[in-house]
Amino acid sequence: MAVVLGIETSCDETGVGIVSDGRLLGAALASSMEEHARFGGVVPEIAARAHLESLVPCVRAAFQQAGIGPSEIDAVAVTSGPGLATALQTGLAAAKAYALAWDRPLYGVHHLAGHVAADTLENGPLPSRSVALIVSGGHTSLLLLGDLARDPVVHLGDTRDDAAGEAFDKVARLLGLAYPGGPAVAEAARDGDPGAVVFPRAMLGAGYDFSFSGLKSAVARHVERAGSTLAVPDVAASFQEAVADVLTRKAVEACLAHGVDTLVIVGGVAANRRLRDLAAERCRTAGLTLRIPPPSLCTDNGAMIAAVGDLLVASGAPPSSRHLAADPSAPLNRAHL
Ligand code: KG4
Ligand code: ZN
Repeated sequence: MAVVLGIETSCDETGVGIVSDGRLLGAALASSMEEHARFGGVVPEIAARAHLESLVPCVRAAFQQAGIGPSEIDAVAVTSGPGLATALQTGLAAAKAYALAWDRPLYGVHHLAGHVAADTLENGPLPSRSVALIVSGGHTSLLLLGDLARDPVVHLGDTRDDAAGEAFDKVARLLGLAYPGGPAVAEAARDGDPGAVVFPRAMLGAGYDFSFSGLKSAVARHVERAGSTLAVPDVAASFQEAVADVLTRKAVEACLAHGVDTLVIVGGVAANRRLRDLAAERCRTAGLTLRIPPPSLCTDNGAMIAAVGDLLVASGAPPSSRHLAADPSAPLNRAHL
């Protein structure tokens, strides 16, 4: 059984994970999130410098938790795209150095395939066919999946403008809430009425593409009109409801239309309680099996990249070239880059 070390540095989290045969043996995570907070978004150079400082300590911590050493690693997997160029390059350089020093194969991994694979660490191997809803800070896609390590990924729909997480982050800013916006909006929404404001549900009945920029503009208009009477919890809850409603409706429709009985929801926004609850309710009604990793595996981490590496090694995939380059806008066609 292969033991795979995974490294993730595409954004502001430095993640390292060690996975073998679909099981997480050890992991460590460092975040530069607080350093970006006052800028209201991730500053690439700050993120890259933080990765540089955190990488080796995270690798050591993951080894310690796993109770193994470098000689027991059979392969190194790394996010080579998509993400922030300088941030990706830091992780890629580290992964190449480890692979070279330990004389082990290197596997470049697509970040979003990593989000999907995170679920297998909690819920076991994926069925032969599934629909995945990926909702992160940079991406929102509905995908038809076969074997993640072998088959091409089929895009059923994507966002035409903002990603779901990006909408949370922008709406948080409109409401004067902290960065990152997702957890802040979810927290504010706890005391709000989701039916207080009826925000638009864009593109319902128009296939599987998404659009969130109109929703963001509707929130901006509401905030401007409300002025000092703005009820932040109500707006947060109503916005969150609109996002969860559209995402879950389209995801369930996609499963039924393609005769797939399993829906997987992954990515940072999958940590959202309301999205999880509404998805559970609608999947139950539709007779679908719902899989969502625990919140700690929804947001960026290294275990998810090791999980893809583990699947690739098990499928006999050839390693990536040692000349593997970071691809900041890598399209999701395959898990292996
Ligand atoms: O997958 P992720 O950690 O990083 C990317 O690959 O983008 O996703 C981060 C996104 C951010 O936009 C963040 O605001 C959002 O996930 N997020 C949430 C929650 N936790 C994180 N959105 C809604 N509710 C949450 N609880
Ligand atoms: Zn991510």
